[in-house]
This record gives sequence, C-alpha cells and structure tokens, in this order.
Amino acid sequence: MDHKMLFDEAVKAAEKSYSKYSGFSVGASLLTSEGKVFNGCNIENASYSLTNCAERTAVFKAVSEGYTNFTAIAVAGSGNGDFSKPCFPCGACLQVLSEFCGDDFVIILSDGEYRLSDFLPKRFCEESME
Ligand code: THU
Repeated sequence: MDHKMLFDEAVKAAEKSYSKYSGFSVGASLLTSEGKVFNGCNIENASYSLTNCAERTAVFKAVSEGYTNFTAIAVAGSGNGDFSKPCFPCGACLQVLSEFCGDDFVIILSDGEYRLSDFLPKRFCEESME
C-alpha cells in the first residue's frame, strides 16, 4: 500500500462521514505494520462535544481488533467534495496516535507527508508519569 493509495482510501472513507452538523467530511486510513488498513470517518452527535474524529475512529477500530503497531495514517477532509486542502489532525487525535506511534510515524495529507513529531514534538506519555 503506497502513500498515494492510502490517501485515496481516506477520501473514500470520508464518504461514510456522519457530519450533518458541520457539513465537513473526514476520512482516515490507518496502515498497520502488518500491512492491514483500518478506515475511519468522523461521527458527529447532536450533543456536539461527543463527536469522534475520523483518525480516532480508525485507531479505535484497529486497537479493538488487536492491532497496535502502525506505520502511517492518511487523512482527507472536505466541506465541498474537494480534498485538495490539507486536513491537519486535531490535538486530541495526535495525542491518541502518540499512545501507539513513535516520532517517525507518517501522516499523509493532501499536500504531502509529515511525521508525528512535526505536529507533536513533545508529548504526554507513560514516562511523563514516572
Ligand atoms: N475532524 C476530524 O474528523 N478530524 C480532525 O482531525 C479534525 C476535525 C472532524 C470533527 C468534526 O466532525 C468536523 O471535522 C469539523 O470539526
């Protein structure tokens, strides 16, 4: 699965977005070390703060199926069907990703590839509590 293909999967995953309140569709495709892909979309709620982002949907699906090692995630977001503008992962999703992924984990957006450390150079983690 190359990175362009993973981004295309994320665009496809956005079709499942449940985003009747924001009108903003997001899809995320998470690649495991074993080469398996888990797709997620944003799932909104009438009680707005209960919304789950696409990235966290993908992570929770994977972890609940026994997969905890990841190499990359592609994220695609759009309010009008045009996915060319980068959809940067929110802080909550970065924190959830950081539980399972190291600094080198790749984040694929419409404008190129980033590392988790580009967005989250310092992190709260298990060692923070020692
Ligand atoms: N959203 C995501 O799914 N991922 C992000 O990283 C940023 C925001 C969703 C949440 C909400 O459903 C919509 O985009 C607008 O904030």
